[in-house]
Amino acid sequence: MTKNRASSEKPDHLVLVGFMGAGKTTVGRVLAALTGREFVDLDHSIEEKAKTSIKNIFAVQGEEYFRVLESEALEAMLKRTHCVVATGGGIVGRAKNWEVMRRLGAVIYLENDWETIVSRIADCPDRPLVTGKDLENVRALFAQRQPLYEQADLRVAVKNQKPSEVALSIVEMLSREKHRA
Ligand code: S3P
Repeated sequence: MTKNRASSEKPDHLVLVGFMGAGKTTVGRVLAALTGREFVDLDHSIEEKAKTSIKNIFAVQGEEYFRVLESEALEAMLKRTHCVVATGGGIVGRAKNWEVMRRLGAVIYLENDWETIVSRIADCPDRPLVTGKDLENVRALFAQRQPLYEQADLRVAVKNQKPSEVALSIVEMLSREKHRA
């Protein structure tokens, strides 16, 4: 269990953003172990609270409703401290989510190239924005979101790197940032 936050304590989370299939969950777990934080997968928190799958939420209530649940799950992280938070790829689309993410802690963009992403997500039946969609549309979404991801505090290339290597790079970057501050 994570601690609930005392009013004076900063959340001090590490928030991972990036497109579907970028590796947020795998890297997030390793990063959490490395930094002594709890790992939170926001999509998983949404599913637990809604007691149904994201696929089902998209199918029954639609994407806009999902986005409301997503923003609520993100805001709920303000009450907790010291987690690594893996977000869903679309969290970057709402300006309000950015305000919350900045209050949560360091926002880290896991950057991966389209070819690697597509090889990971193309056959996934659980991603409503991919399943049954023309990959060209998904590619357009990928391109459209790049400038949004680039608003993150840190950016780390994931291509051809093991999750442990990516997590270590993040720890090193954070420690450099700390010394610079
Ligand atoms: C989405 C990404 C998914 C999930 C939902 C919408 C998106 O999470 O939140 O299907 O808009 O890119 P992952 O990035 O973990 O696949």
